[in-house]
Amino acid sequence: MKSALLTWLRSHPDVVSGETLSTVLHTSRVTIWNHIQKLQGLGYDIQATPKGYRLAASPDIPYPFEFPEREGRMYYVETIGSTMDLAKTLAREGCPHGTVVVAERQTRGKGRLRRTWISDVGGLYFTIVLRPEIPASHVMRYPFAASVVLCRTIRRMTGIDARVKWPNDILVGQAKLAGMLCEMEAETDLVSFVNIGIGVNVNNDPEPAEQKACSIRNILGHPVERVALLREFLDAYETVIGALDPVAVMREWKSLSATLGKQVRIVTPERVTEGRAVDIDANGNLILETQNRHLETILYGDCFEIPNQPNA
Ligand code: BTN
Repeated sequence: MKSALLTWLRSHPDVVSGETLSTVLHTSRVTIWNHIQKLQGLGYDIQATPKGYRLAASPDIPYPFEFPEREGRMYYVETIGSTMDLAKTLAREGCPHGTVVVAERQTRGKGRLRRTWISDVGGLYFTIVLRPEIPASHVMRYPFAASVVLCRTIRRMTGIDARVKWPNDILVGQAKLAGMLCEMEAETDLVSFVNIGIGVNVNNDPEPAEQKACSIRNILGHPVERVALLREFLDAYETVIGALDPVAVMREWKSLSATLGKQVRIVTPERVTEGRAVDIDANGNLILETQNRHLETILYGDCFEIPNQPNA
């Protein structure tokens, strides 16, 4: 009801009478009034005049009813430890493919390789539960598709020159704009679920805590709508993974890459490898050209660009 009410109010920027709303939404005027009051309580500026209702402004909060096509598969929480935890619980309980958990802030946000992800108000923090029928070895195609689609969405909506950094970061220059985390469970090598957690610095200010981080608002000098960004990303991602073409995804990843062609250092808890990033394969593994033109396939790790050495 709330989403239908908002759709109707948004498509009629002038006043709409309670009578019209009750007719088109097939409900009583009292029910309409109750929903209007609830929306007002959630931060919607809906003016009630003798002639009817007018939506003057909406809060930029990703309430499930702002995503009518996926409302039943969306969970919004104001504060949570990590969206990864709730998404894992829901996935184990059998929630459908495409379920999304989104939070306003996280108190124990998780980053890759057991780091923390600072999640202040104004950012976008969400986890998508996917249930592709694939072997575990193909799972990384999904976060790679997500980084490509997120990068493309940010570029299109903001004009920012966002790039993908191996494996799944989004950078602007050297500063991190978004990060991704992938968790999965499988049974006898067939995936039960893949959860992709995404944190985007949108209207928050990550710089005080994270040296090499930036946000869309800091770059543009004005805030952008998180709801619109999330909606556009989810729609495009659903389309891409509906018929996932890993070759096309990796081709686009390469065209947006901030990593390929660079001299890099890959750090894992076990070892450090240096070389020139020359390619990624269909599963998102990084191909490094190390000493003596030896090619090495890197499956995971932290990737740091090694700046060009000035001529000796
Ligand atoms: C990284 O770059 O290290 C990955 C960061 C992933 C952060 C997102 S925010 C939403 C989801 N919930 C979490 O706790 N982490 C991911």
